[in-house]
Amino acid sequence: MAATGKKTGLSLAEATKRHQALAEDVAASARAYYVDDDPIKSDAEYDADFRLLESIEEDFPTLRTADSPTQQIGSTPSGAFAKVKHRVPMLSLGNAFSHEDVGEFVARIRRFLNLDTEVPVELVAEPKIDGLSAALRYSHGRFVLGATRGDGSEGEDITANLRTVVDIPAALNGDAPDVLEVRGEVYMARSDFLGLNERQITAGGKVFANPRNAAAGSVRQLDPAITASRPLRFFAYAWGEVSESPGETQWAFLERLKGWGFSVNPLTRLCHRTEELRQFFDELALQRAALDYDIDGIVYKVNKLALQERLGFVSRAPRWAVAQKFPPEQATTVLLGIDIQVGRTGSLTPVARLQPVTVGGVVVSNATLHNEDEVGRKDVRVGDTVVVQRAGDVIPQIVGPVLAKRPADASAYVFPTRCPVCNSEAVRDEGEVVRRCTGGLICPAQAVERLKHFVSRNAFDIEGLGGKHIETFWTDGLVRGPADIFKLADKAAEIAEREGWAEQSVANLLAAIDERRTVSLERFIFALGIRQVGQATSRLLAKTYGSLAGWRQAMDAAQDPESDAYQELVDIDGIGPAVATDILAFFHETHNRDALEALSEQVTPADFEQPAADSPVAGKTVVFTGTLEKMTRNEAKARAEGLGAKVAGSVSKKTDILVAGPGAGSKASKAEALGITVVDEEGWLALIGEG
Ligand code: IVH
Repeated sequence: MAATGKKTGLSLAEATKRHQALAEDVAASARAYYVDDDPIKSDAEYDADFRLLESIEEDFPTLRTADSPTQQIGSTPSGAFAKVKHRVPMLSLGNAFSHEDVGEFVARIRRFLNLDTEVPVELVAEPKIDGLSAALRYSHGRFVLGATRGDGSEGEDITANLRTVVDIPAALNGDAPDVLEVRGEVYMARSDFLGLNERQITAGGKVFANPRNAAAGSVRQLDPAITASRPLRFFAYAWGEVSESPGETQWAFLERLKGWGFSVNPLTRLCHRTEELRQFFDELALQRAALDYDIDGIVYKVNKLALQERLGFVSRAPRWAVAQKFPPEQATTVLLGIDIQVGRTGSLTPVARLQPVTVGGVVVSNATLHNEDEVGRKDVRVGDTVVVQRAGDVIPQIVGPVLAKRPADASAYVFPTRCPVCNSEAVRDEGEVVRRCTGGLICPAQAVERLKHFVSRNAFDIEGLGGKHIETFWTDGLVRGPADIFKLADKAAEIAEREGWAEQSVANLLAAIDERRTVSLERFIFALGIRQVGQATSRLLAKTYGSLAGWRQAMDAAQDPESDAYQELVDIDGIGPAVATDILAFFHETHNRDALEALSEQVTPADFEQPAADSPVAGKTVVFTGTLEKMTRNEAKARAEGLGAKVAGSVSKKTDILVAGPGAGSKASKAEALGITVVDEEGWLALIGEG
């Protein structure tokens, strides 16, 4: 009789069947939860199914394939992506900027192939999607590796993130070559992008400039759970390494892609004559604004693959394809006024207020003018008719004024030298392009922006307390400084009286606030919003000083530039005199000191946890490869990092130890060639004293 699993009592055959059904079910629930934001199962049910899946895999480890839900979402950030060599380079395309250029492209093909002008050259015309290209490797029909383009010969392994993309099938339908690398574009729909930015604004997170940036930022998230919450899409259009011919024509290949379960752009057209290309371009140029995704041109590809092969490549681009770019989308409208926005650090940013106008399908009523010099250079005046452009970016730019339409009484814009919000002096330091309000926290604009920063995602990250809430709480005097947030329990009744605040939501908010009474020291420091002190610098400070008390004392002592404390501060690798000046200036200000004191009565930042320096692997660079049997890869990484080791994704001269499990491939041979210590899992556990 076949052996049954210890945990589940199932035979291999039963387990395989059960596993497949359960894996699909769990994946669907995870997608409903992370992607659609619309759970189809309770957390408890999901957890139970997930645990059963894990048990089955413990009984039969061969079922723990890379695409199992147990190997997905919720992994700990790795710190970096592993590098992936493209077996077939990912090339770029030559550009055509006019119909004449396209005509010349076709003529060149004819000359190269020695074809008569009467012989038609079939071309496939595909919208050029404005996203980022990705290569998806399928082995025996299963998605096993996803990579960015990188420099064309080497990209980054973003498999876990790409598994969260709805249009990327985990398993292909029908027959597919054993080895099949599908290439295409990861993008974000415009509507999804606008929705994402709205959510980011409410949550105080990063606002993206355009769908492309949003897609790029999402695909390179270290935590696949974040990628899963971002609405990414994929259009397939090409192949890389394949174990069998992809077919006879590009058109037929696109059909096969659809059969396997990919999305192929529905506007793609097979053109038989060169005139059709022009017609398609003009049609698409008109249609472009109404599409729900950004396209920046059209790619024309020779349809017959046999001809493609004969044509080959010139340097980094194929001779058989070209991209014809659309001109940037422009419109003219009237400049109604120039507003000055005051940022967290007091920066004054001029923003053009425009008579609303549609540019490339998006209604535009504001455009950034960047800074004082930019306004001067463009000499745009209130009342001017101006040219507005969206070059892929959703944040539109002002190209310049239409001088012929300038009203006689239009006068040059004078940049304010006082803050429009608090009337404090606004100064521009030497060598700086930015003019800043000197009002500090006396300036309501700065105070509100600082509070928004304080609650933002990488700072205190208080669930349910977004930028909009901060604005109203500030206006109504409920919250004036960070410490007030932690005293909101006293104002619960007042909050509950407001529209949109049910008793339960107030309770939830207060609970979320209470949860943040302990935060890591680095988050605490970052949240203070000190100029030039971003996440990395905050971490350095936390690491150096260990505790809030230690840091405060040291900053007080460092006010004296002759002191050892000052020397220690500027000696921190990554903090120079300029950053030190901003940190010390923060501590010099009485209102900052008061705010910090009040905050430390409400919040206890946890001391920085120094990785155990006495472990035998502290400071060593470790790479894991192959299958680990006693723990997951993520566990192993976290454990190693906890012991002070640095975990890298690929073997290099800097690697100290390679931990190679069964199935370790090229990394093991490379490590041996470099004379790097290679140990198996047992050896590693023995090394860290857990064997
Ligand atoms: S084909 C060897 N087709 O454009 C030819 N590229 O400028 C490989 N792109 O890196 C590219 N839509 O990111 C091709 N339908 C399409 C495309 C497309 C967008 C992007 C792609 C590529 C870039 C080249």
